Amino acid sequence: MTLPRTFPFIRSFVIFLILDILGRHEASVSTWMYLGLVGSNVPQLPDIKLIPRGGFHPELAVLPPPVSDTSEPSDWCGSIPGLVDRQVALCRRNPEIFWHIRDAAKLAIKECQYQFHNERWNCTTSNDRHVFGKTMSKATKETAFITAISSAAVVYSVVSACSSGNVTGCGCVDIRRQSQKPAGDGWTWSGCTDNIEYGMWFSRQFNDAQEDIKRKDARNVKDAMHLHNKETGRTVVQRQMGKDCRCHGVSGSCETKSCWRKMAPFRDTGNELKAKHDNAVWIARKYAKKLKRRGRMVKHRPITNNELVFLEKSPDYCRHNPAKGIAGTAGRLCNATSTGPEGCGTLCCKRGYITQVIWRREQCRCKFVWCCEVKCQICNIKKEIHTCK
Ligand SMILES: *[C@@H]1O[C@H](CO)[C@@H](O)[C@H](O)[C@H]1NC(C)=O
Ligand SMILES: *[C@@H]1O[C@H](CO)[C@@H](O)[C@H](O)[C@H]1NC(C)=O
Ligand SMILES: *[C@@H]1O[C@H](CO)[C@@H](O)[C@H](O)[C@H]1NC(C)=O
Repeated sequence: MTLPRTFPFIRSFVIFLILDILGRHEASVSTWMYLGLVGSNVPQLPDIKLIPRGGFHPELAVLPPPVSDTSEPSDWCGSIPGLVDRQVALCRRNPEIFWHIRDAAKLAIKECQYQFHNERWNCTTSNDRHVFGKTMSKATKETAFITAISSAAVVYSVVSACSSGNVTGCGCVDIRRQSQKPAGDGWTWSGCTDNIEYGMWFSRQFNDAQEDIKRKDARNVKDAMHLHNKETGRTVVQRQMGKDCRCHGVSGSCETKSCWRKMAPFRDTGNELKAKHDNAVWIARKYAKKLKRRGRMVKHRPITNNELVFLEKSPDYCRHNPAKGIAGTAGRLCNATSTGPEGCGTLCCKRGYITQVIWRREQCRCKFVWCCEVKCQICNIKKEIHTCK
């Protein structure tokens, strides 16, 4: 009989397959956010003649830009790491806007590191195409934050570029055409309103492509998680839109005022997404495709675009663990008197810390000298620094 002979072979093949899938799951993934790493050898945009935009073109305001010649500049688009075919195609249709995807990657990395500089996981990046190491292939709160902040950053960067008039395919919106917002007493809508709709559209096309290209029935709960968190990130930028005004009148008086809608500084978006990270919702795995809260009591409460969601508990970020791509907190600077996350107790995970006395040369005893100078002396100042064991 052949069955007993082939059976072990099939079994080991199946085991190999499972290990392979698990291995891939744990592996680092290449990401377009590599474009945002400073000082690395990122591909350069080929020479494109920028045509300055003359005024407002309503037909370009909300609609996607027209599909134009797709042959140029193919190589640049093809050389960005971690893009799926649909994203490369989007790049070829909108090379100028893609130049600002690089701004988005930089912005997202910078904001992530700012928001987490006091935490055990400090948004570590490696100087290669994986950028965030294994965090991107997981489904933790940290993965949720990175996904959300990067699609928020795409909205922000694309819209800023459109408003600056630097991009041929997009511009501002004339809000008077959107009748739902009446002007107030003594002011009118005019000026360059940020084209948030276009940014939202662009980010949905770009950031969601990885999951969107899968057939609906091939998507799993992790895909649903990513899509949800990306939309949450974008929604924060949209909801934070505010109003900016300019006065008109003789010598600075404010006889008439014109106002436009403007995005909030990206720091505000980072702050809000960090708060959402801290309160992220843990999702049950058993529904395969649907996002439902874990727990009998709460599972029917719908999940909103105000929330970030995650599937896996975060690993222990305390100890160095190269297999899991975790740097650990040994050697991190901490604050001996603080009870917050940057306090030595929390940051060093109760391992204790080392205190060193350092002398630093600083400017001191500064005096104002008439007129108009500030003169300082150089002093040696004693400082205590604490680092985790
Ligand atoms: C627009 O282009 C000008 C000139 O190249 C540049 O100085 C400016 O920073 C650009 N603005 C944005 C938002 O990219
Ligand atoms: C994060 O912490 C590691 C040590 O664990 C340190 O080497 C790295 O510079 C820190 N990164 C940032 C962005 O603060
Ligand atoms: C350490 O934390 C305390 C209390 O939060 C704060 O007053 C102090 O400025 C911090 N020190 C440094 C060096 O950040």
